[in-house]
Amino acid sequence: MNENSSSRQPAPTSAAQGGRRRLILPHPIADLGRVHPELERDMMARLGPDCVFMMGDNPVLPKMPEKPQLMDFFNLRFTAFTRDHLLQSAMLALRSGLEEKVVLACLLHDIANGALIRTDHGYWGAQLIEPYVSEEISWAVRYHQALRFFPDESVGYEYPQAYREFFGPEYQPSAYVWEAYEQARNHRWYMTARLITLNDAYAFDPNVVVDPEEFTDVIGRHFRQPAAGLGFDNSPVAHMWRTMIWPNNLL
Ligand SMILES: [Fe+2]
Ligand SMILES: [Fe+2]
Repeated sequence: MNENSSSRQPAPTSAAQGGRRRLILPHPIADLGRVHPELERDMMARLGPDCVFMMGDNPVLPKMPEKPQLMDFFNLRFTAFTRDHLLQSAMLALRSGLEEKVVLACLLHDIANGALIRTDHGYWGAQLIEPYVSEEISWAVRYHQALRFFPDESVGYEYPQAYREFFGPEYQPSAYVWEAYEQARNHRWYMTARLITLNDAYAFDPNVVVDPEEFTDVIGRHFRQPAAGLGFDNSPVAHMWRTMIWPNNLL
């Protein structure tokens, strides 16, 4: 990678389409408008017959099918890092002979960070999949977020060394994370969430390539793909999947 490689470029703030420039206003949640406080006003001043805001398919992004299924999001929307991480986690679970519900939970556990949002990713991820999987799988995805911070010697899970590097050795989780851990510890599905963390810790190997097809059958048996496509089934979370399809829509 050199300094001019596309990976070093900031995300585009506009794209050309149909003879027009389409402006992309970043989501406020990323920086609360503090980096470019005048950006909204500046972009509005540029509007005209040849310049409008982005709505619909962004030509810079791979086009999604009309009725997208889970693997379309893996292949066309998730960051490469998260996609590989999820596939490797699920493969570890599969090779360990764990139940299919655990394999699918591992495959889905970080999908929020893949293409939507990082903060509270376990909760967002659980909500995304809730209408399509068993209650146990979405519960496990929700609680893996808290369990990651707490060791369990009975299964050989230690506090991740990576977290000492990510957050500093003195970092302590927020009170609500402690509370979630206390709730999860005595829950009947505790081990499902714990197994996500066990297969999570070792799944950052850049040299391991996993074929997503390996999970076609597990997805088929445990993920209820809506016939209308994710984002278009009028489920309570359809808007969250549509946000991943059209992440740059102004509204
Ligand atoms: Fe996670
Ligand atoms: Fe993870």
